[in-house]
Amino acid sequence: MPESKRLEGKVALITGAASGIGGAAAELFAAEGANIAAADLKRTEVREAVDRLTASGASAVAISGDVSHRADAERFVQACVDRLGSIDIVVNCAGVTTRYAPEDWDYEQVWDWVIDVNLKGTYMVSRAAARHMRQAGNGGSIVNLSSIYGLVGRPEYYGTGEDPYPASKGGISMMTKDMANAFGADRVRVNALCPGFVYTPLTATVTGDDQWLKTMESMIPLGRLAQADEVARAALFLASDDASYITGATIPVDGGYTSQ
Ligand SMILES: NC(=O)c1ccc[n+]([C@@H]2O[C@H](COP(=O)([O-])OP(=O)(O)OC[C@H]3O[C@@H](n4cnc5c(N)ncnc54)[C@H](O)[C@@H]3O)[C@@H](O)[C@H]2O)c1
Repeated sequence: MPESKRLEGKVALITGAASGIGGAAAELFAAEGANIAAADLKRTEVREAVDRLTASGASAVAISGDVSHRADAERFVQACVDRLGSIDIVVNCAGVTTRYAPEDWDYEQVWDWVIDVNLKGTYMVSRAAARHMRQAGNGGSIVNLSSIYGLVGRPEYYGTGEDPYPASKGGISMMTKDMANAFGADRVRVNALCPGFVYTPLTATVTGDDQWLKTMESMIPLGRLAQADEVARAALFLASDDASYITGATIPVDGGYTSQ
């Protein structure tokens, strides 16, 4: 008997789906039978990602906009419901790192940008999605992308102590627990993944530095960084019924980094 697909007939909104972990999640979820609403700031790239999904037989739509803008975040959710019929799953992958802030910005602009996209964006999309899920009465699963730096402080080797990224991710970890408590009665599960370093465009500037890479690898029990699909597979677990009794969890996907 053929194995049944783990997300057959489900509708998943994936933000940041044009790249990295979001792109890998969109491919994996589509292969597992989900209908995909792929949202991203990058209009052309998200359309191309959706073209690849539909070419492989998936049902997918592209939506462009900025998660940190309330109207866009709410539109992502509404477009998902209008075009695909419902919303069962959200994976909040849209995110930025301080490394890519324009050099001429001062620290306050950098702070606002990183907190707005990572924390406020995750909040806006999750809030809008949870309202639909609770009203529809069919439960749901929200998977947030926190980070190892939403769980532990950064080593002196890497951290400056002035970076808003850990604050944005710590906020996501805590918001995940708070939303899980509030939405549990409506069977809307909310969990967060806390990846270590993953090979994606987000980390390309550091992973391209051999010395940096060697030092970072030496800090990870498994001795290597992650591939995007290793994080996507953890997101699939949390999104699926395999995780039916898991909510409010912050799960490291970090090769053991935070276990030390
Ligand atoms: N790569 C890592 O090592 C790593 C580790 C821990 C956590 N994470 C988190 O995982 C998530 C995905 O990271 P990634 O490595 O796949 O990054 P990525 O840069 O490959 O992809 C992020 C995507 O988010 C989109 N995006 C950025 N700002 C947006 C906005 N305002 N509105 C809508 N879309 C926006 C980008 O266009 C891009 O397509 C992020 O939240 C990141 O912080 C990544």
